[in-house]
Amino acid sequence: MGDIIGKYLENPDFTKEEFAELLGFASDPEAAGRLREEAVRIRKLHYGEKVYTRGLIEFTNYCRNDCYYCGIRRGNLHARRYRLTKEEILDCCDRGYELGFRTFVLQGGEDRWFTDERMAEIIRAIRSRYPDCAITLSVGERPYESYRLWKEAGADRYLLRHETANEAHYRKLHPSGMSLAVRKLCLYDLKLLGYQVGAGFMVGSPGQTAECLAEDLVFLKELQPHMVGIGPFIPHHETVFAKEPAGSVEQTLFLLSVIRILLPKVLLPATTALGTLDPRGREKGLEAGANVVMPNLSPVKNRKHYDLYDNKICTGEEAAECRGCLSRRVESVGYYLVNERGDAKI
Ligand code: 5AD
Ligand code: FES
Repeated sequence: MGDIIGKYLENPDFTKEEFAELLGFASDPEAAGRLREEAVRIRKLHYGEKVYTRGLIEFTNYCRNDCYYCGIRRGNLHARRYRLTKEEILDCCDRGYELGFRTFVLQGGEDRWFTDERMAEIIRAIRSRYPDCAITLSVGERPYESYRLWKEAGADRYLLRHETANEAHYRKLHPSGMSLAVRKLCLYDLKLLGYQVGAGFMVGSPGQTAECLAEDLVFLKELQPHMVGIGPFIPHHETVFAKEPAGSVEQTLFLLSVIRILLPKVLLPATTALGTLDPRGREKGLEAGANVVMPNLSPVKNRKHYDLYDNKICTGEEAAECRGCLSRRVESVGYYLVNERGDAKI
């Protein structure tokens, strides 16, 4: 049993077996510390002390999917469904722009009410009003042609977490209509179309093993995404996994460092899920190698209905409050928020 941490620091080009062994050290404080130090060195080399912000606009919680972990799954009949109008979305952007945001993330469930053309119209409206801002979409799986139309309409980036790169595990987390193969195809389509692409997964989702996580890392290495969103799994009371334990903050932080070292220039958010499980979760995320935060720009009246998991933070705060709060938090660990698009330096 050699020094697997030392080996990783020297050359992170690991096999699945080596990643699995590395992950065995996730709760070893000394190992985590060594990875964290290198992760922070690399993040500072490429991004200095800057932290990029993305204004998240959760514009619909209708969803045709039924993912077992997610609170807005179709099968949750207690969810109060809402859709923002184009005008409401533009209002969110207006407020966001004033607050310094230069990236807007349109995130929603898989809601086909927003047809290709309706989405394109919204994208064009944001694009013409804010030529200096990046537009990120996060609306799930769609055909290549839809992605192409939206790219032409002015979208720049797309977030689509792969959730798990292990076939059997993917089937445990999703109903039979969904497949890892389609998810991967979408990610490669998006890359081909020239989007800056974000993949990612939950840490500690039911049935996840070190081997699954090792496969996630191998897949990330192969995909070479511009962004990687990871956060701990958190149970939602109206889902199949209501009684399952949440993922671990410690393991999430360990993985953030591992990913920063694996993909040095990647954009890595300190996620809301991390901040939900630990009051200093996002700060700890930054200290482990993250360089992005994604505060909420959705109207406060809709916030609590975009209910992916229980106890989600920031559902009562106005956009300006979240911005101020995050700015203080980021500064408390020696970084600062910037008003830039924050494109990946890849
Ligand atoms: N816990 C943590 N993250 C979740 N997501 C969905 N449900 C949960 C949950 N219960 C994540 C998924 C999805 C992203 C938008 O939110 O990874 O891709
Ligand atoms: Fe929303 Fe702190 S970031 S209240």
